[in-house]
Amino acid sequence: MEQIRAEGLTLGYGCKEVVKGVDLTIRKGEFLSIIGPSGVGKSTLLMGINATTSIMGGSLKVLGKDVGSIRHNDLKALRARLGVIFQGFNLVSRLSVLDNIASGMLHRKPLLSALFKHYTHLQYEELYEYMKVVGIENEALSRCDRLSGGQKQRVAIARAIAQHPEVILADEPISSLDPVSARTVLETLKNANERYGITVIANLHQLDYAREFCSRVVGLNAGRIVYDGHPSKLCQSTVAEIYACPTAKAQQERKVHHFPFSPAAASAV
Ligand SMILES: Nc1ncnc2c1ncn2[C@@H]1O[C@H](COP(=O)(O)OP(=O)(O)OP(=O)(O)O)[C@@H](O)[C@H]1O
Ligand SMILES: [Mg+2]
Repeated sequence: MEQIRAEGLTLGYGCKEVVKGVDLTIRKGEFLSIIGPSGVGKSTLLMGINATTSIMGGSLKVLGKDVGSIRHNDLKALRARLGVIFQGFNLVSRLSVLDNIASGMLHRKPLLSALFKHYTHLQYEELYEYMKVVGIENEALSRCDRLSGGQKQRVAIARAIAQHPEVILADEPISSLDPVSARTVLETLKNANERYGITVIANLHQLDYAREFCSRVVGLNAGRIVYDGHPSKLCQSTVAEIYACPTAKAQQERKVHHFPFSPAAASAV
């Protein structure tokens, strides 16, 4: 089943185009990673799917909704179906692990019980299951500001799962984690993908992990898709093409020619 369809999609900020004319279709149950050099629009594309960057051209359908023309209430309902894991975790630091994960269930709970953090027996059982999935159950009552980065990342994933999303958007979910925590976090996402059938779209900088965990890799460069396929088909020349950085090269050349105190300029004097 098709969940996301971008056609000639251009996204950006103000009048600056960042994602340029992208065609992309994502189906339910895929574990897709977006790779590419820094600044090419990976986060912008993820945030576009979450309807937080403006569409400058083309069209984008997410879970059957046309993001370009979506209205306020429909947008709220759409976002409730998307679990977003931000790079900075976005946890409430003074709340416990349990309460942070439970905040993912907010849209499914009556307002008063949400406000007073009152959970039914069934909800406790459900929360315990999510904590076990991410292996954080022994820290249930710990405040989030007392957790390590890897533990926080796992709480953020559990919160996204508690939301019962159809799609998880994870922006560099393993950046700044040690290799063991990084692996645990990716295994957790894979588990959510296989166990609950949640589609996962993750921005990754680590090719080895993309190869090991993902069913599909999209390579982005300068806002355009330059690779879309199975990770096993990523050969060296394709990787080189994805990571070729024309912008940086151009900037480098500009610096050499115009920076008045560059070694080249100094020796010419
Ligand atoms: N809020 C914003 N306002 C204006 N420009 C932005 C904004 N966010 C990002 N950009 C610009 O859009 C471009 C792409 O940024 P984006 O964060 O999508 O890149 P990225 O591929 O995720 O990079 P990284 O790998 O470093 O996270 C960059 O040139 C960036 O400066
Ligand atoms: Mg980014």
